[in-house]
Amino acid sequence: MASPDYWHYPRSALADSVLMAFDSGLSHALTMFAPRRMGKTEFLLQDLAPRAEEHGWRVFYHSFMTDGDEAGEVFRLSLAEFAAGRLKRWLKPLTARVSAELLGVKAELGSQPTSAPHSLTEVVQALASGGRCLLLLDEAQILTRLPRNEELLGGLRTGLDINKDQLKVLFTGSSREGLRRMFSEARAPFFHFGTNIELPTLDRGFCSHLAAAFTRSTGRALDESRLWEEFQATGHVPGRLRAVVEAMVLNADLSLAEAVALKLHDVHDEAQYAKILKALPILDRLVLQAVLASAPLFAEDTRARMGTTLGAATPSTTAVQSAAERLLRDEIITRRERGQYEISDPGFSHWLQALAGDTQA
Ligand SMILES: Nc1ncnc2c1ncn2[C@@H]1O[C@H](COP(=O)(O)OP(=O)(O)OP(=O)(O)O)[C@@H](O)[C@H]1O
Ligand SMILES: [Mg+2]
Repeated sequence: MASPDYWHYPRSALADSVLMAFDSGLSHALTMFAPRRMGKTEFLLQDLAPRAEEHGWRVFYHSFMTDGDEAGEVFRLSLAEFAAGRLKRWLKPLTARVSAELLGVKAELGSQPTSAPHSLTEVVQALASGGRCLLLLDEAQILTRLPRNEELLGGLRTGLDINKDQLKVLFTGSSREGLRRMFSEARAPFFHFGTNIELPTLDRGFCSHLAAAFTRSTGRALDESRLWEEFQATGHVPGRLRAVVEAMVLNADLSLAEAVALKLHDVHDEAQYAKILKALPILDRLVLQAVLASAPLFAEDTRARMGTTLGAATPSTTAVQSAAERLLRDEIITRRERGQYEISDPGFSHWLQALAGDTQA
């Protein structure tokens, strides 16, 4: 067993309340949305999964993030493997190589006149017959991007619905919209979608924890209150603060301010952001700007401002709505409660803010 990650700041209370909802039979499916790099995956793997195992659950974790066009097929095969008990441990990191192997096996089977592969409903059925199981499905909305996954999604919904006493599922994602789409487009109805749990922003304890871990690994001191200020100023994004601290571990000469400056300008991210922005139609860019400014998107004066910038007539509510829908679909923005929107990736949001500042200056 690997030693526990001492950089990890536990979210035990949240893990317990999720498990209580499942253990007691109160919930069969939960969703959790939060912007990028806020700690969803870390929560699933480091807090919830081990705790669930202690409670006697078999735990299956799967991320749909990295398998591109093959995401549906890789999922079906991994779940089949897990159901067949070949995955001894709850987590088998599905590297690109393993995915390729799984797909290779499938191609081989396909070339022989064998019986048809098991449908996902059958796989889910087999899984349920093995007893209680908790499925942690990370970024599952990715499945909705390809029409060919529709059947698979139908199978998943049906399988989970039939076996809801044995199988509990937690869907996580950075796009509320994506997950909503996943269920609402259902031909087969899905059970209680909508019980959403919040991933609370981390408190000051996270910063003390990081400072202590820093000292433990380097023998050097790190000002906890400065970390806390930084964390608050940059939108409470744990991924960002960890990157800053990591840079300081690796380079003893780096001050906190220097590390922050370094990580604020991640060249890879920035190239990516510039590309996203460039690809957007002009109206979508203006809608993005309005989201950034927390302006009510469809209000008369917001739209009038868009018209002025465009040097054209005020865009209609429908036009703005279509632009917003496109941004939601591509997961660039996310719909919050009460019809508010926000930019999904906090890094992108900061980059846009800096850009807006530069153009005004
Ligand atoms: N509880 C925590 N304790 C310590 N570090 C954390 C914690 N949560 C998140 N982090 C740090 O933040 C990084 C990003 O977290 P994670 O990958 O879980 O975010 P995410 O919400 O799944 O983002 P994405 O949408 O990009 O998948 C982690 O790699 C880790 O460095
Ligand atoms: Mg994640």
